Amino acid sequence: MNEDLGNSMDIGKLLDEIDRYCIDNSIPNVDKEVGKLFSILIKVSRARNILEIGTGAGYSTIWLAIAARENRGKVLTIEKDSGNAEVAGDYFRKAGFKNVNILKGDALALLQNLDEKFDFVFIDAAKEEYISYIKAIYAKLMKPSLIVADNAISHVDAISDYLDYVRTDKNISSVLIPIRAGLEVSFLS
Ligand SMILES: C[S@@+](CC[C@H](N)C(=O)[O-])C[C@H]1O[C@@H](n2cnc3c(N)ncnc32)[C@H](O)[C@@H]1O
Repeated sequence: MNEDLGNSMDIGKLLDEIDRYCIDNSIPNVDKEVGKLFSILIKVSRARNILEIGTGAGYSTIWLAIAARENRGKVLTIEKDSGNAEVAGDYFRKAGFKNVNILKGDALALLQNLDEKFDFVFIDAAKEEYISYIKAIYAKLMKPSLIVADNAISHVDAISDYLDYVRTDKNISSVLIPIRAGLEVSFLS
C-alpha cells in the first residue's frame, strides 16, 4: 500500500473489491494508474470542490475522495443508473467517507439545478453527451479549474465534438495524456 491511499489498507482492499465488482458486472472503470494521476492533479491544484459525471460502482469516486480529503475537499458524483448508484452508495458508506455525495439521475437534468461551483471535474458518462456536459458545467467552473475526460483515445470519434470544444476554447489549455483509455486534461484559467 502506498501514500496515495492515505496508508489505509482497508481502502486499498475496498478499491480491489470494487474493481472486481466492475469486472464481474461489465462496468468500465478507471484503473489504479488513473487513480494515482487524479491524486496528483488534485493535490497539486488544491482542488476542493470536485464533480464527477458517471459514478459507475464508485471506483473512480473513491480515488477522487481520497485526494479531496487531503485538501479538506468534497466530491459530488452523479449516476443515472439506479442499480449502479445504489451499489456505489453502499461502497461509499463502507469507505466511511463523509466527503462524498451521490446524486441519482440524469446529469444533464441535474446539472441545471446545481448552484455549486467546481474546481475539478471528471467526465466519464455517456460518450455522445460529453459536449453537453461541458456546456452545462462551463458556467459552474471556478477559475482556475481542471476538467478531466476519460476515453479520449478509446472513444475519440464519439467525443470528437467535446475534444474540439476544449482544444479551441480561448480560456482552456488542453492536452491528451495517453494513459489507459486516454485522458483529456483541460485547464480553464
Ligand atoms: C464508465 S461508467 C463510470 C465509471 C466510473 N467513473 C469509474 O471509473 O469507476 C459510466 C457511468 O455513467 C453513467 N451515465 C451514463 N449517462 C449518464 C448521465 N446522463 N448522467 C449520469 N450518469 C450517466 C452510466 O450509468 C455508467 O454507470
